[in-house]
Amino acid sequence: DKDGHKHFMAKEIAEQPVAIDRALKAYMDDDGQLSLPAELDFTKIERLTMVACGTAFYACMVAKYWFEQIARMPVEVDVASEFRYREPPVPEKTLALFVSQSGETADTLAALRYMEGKAQQIVGLVNVPESSIARESDVILPLHAGPEISVASTKAFTCQLSILLLLALRAAEQRGLPLPDGMPADLRALPGLIHQSLAAEKQITASARGLAEARDIIFLGRGQLYPLALEGALKLKELSYIHAEGYASGELKHGPIALIDEKVPVVVMAPRDALFDKTVSNMQEVMARGGKVILITDAEGAKIAGDGTHEVIVMPQVPDSLAPILYAVPAQQIAYYTAIAKGTDVDQPRNLAKSVTVE
Ligand code: M6R
Repeated sequence: DKDGHKHFMAKEIAEQPVAIDRALKAYMDDDGQLSLPAELDFTKIERLTMVACGTAFYACMVAKYWFEQIARMPVEVDVASEFRYREPPVPEKTLALFVSQSGETADTLAALRYMEGKAQQIVGLVNVPESSIARESDVILPLHAGPEISVASTKAFTCQLSILLLLALRAAEQRGLPLPDGMPADLRALPGLIHQSLAAEKQITASARGLAEARDIIFLGRGQLYPLALEGALKLKELSYIHAEGYASGELKHGPIALIDEKVPVVVMAPRDALFDKTVSNMQEVMARGGKVILITDAEGAKIAGDGTHEVIVMPQVPDSLAPILYAVPAQQIAYYTAIAKGTDVDQPRNLAKSVTVE
């Protein structure tokens, strides 16, 4: 049931405030305190290894920033199809975390089996609690996103991010580190903020008509927004079949800037954080070469850097660690509306399956 929406994807994008609220409530008390399974003990852990595929992998990449910065934990992140064949040595006191919407992704499951008997604890963050990955994990963290039907993952991604942030906060707490100001209680504002960010839809619909004409589109982000650039490019490829690449902004001049001309739209994701000025200078390099920039930022960022861009999409101003969750929404909407403008099959893109059970 699409609930009045044209596609499951549109429904699932719109559902995010409710899904995230549900996910947060499953792991937080009413008074804003963390409430995670007691078996999850980060005091005994010296290394976190996160393994996943596709969009779930990008959620892990964002979480790496959180675990490193907030909980000061050494973190390794890899795609399951690479991790398992590397046969990596596993230090004692490793917590292995597998993230999968379906819980059935063959490579992720095989990577989990590789870690059996090697990692101290195996944790599965899955949307389907009766899935194979859930069954084979020591600790199951259900995602509570609700069924995700569209092949493109949307609400599962933002719920994964929300819960991974809670886990990083828990790790910091248990390791005796101070939590960022207002955390975790301020996370309760997240569903409302996601609701606000959905309002950029109208503007994105208009710019999507231009994007649909492009042959190549580049997404740039720095720090926590780098994985979001990868996610934006993946979503766009999946749905619109337009060639898209995500890059760390700082990598631009190490190659990809050669691609830039007036025909290549560049989506820049840059909240006004400590790295903003650096990303903006990369953005100006793009504009100097005629690149058409779509800047996704907050009101302050728009005031400082909006001039000369093709379009500015304004997100609510939020604490740094919430930005990647919020900026997922315009990434999804850009892919969705570009696909609509191109007339491709949004819910069932060619060659793709919802659950990838072959290796
Ligand atoms: O079910 P999983 O989360 O393990 O699936 C992983 C990927 O196959 C999945 O995220 C895929 O990249 C999506 N189609 C992205 O939209």
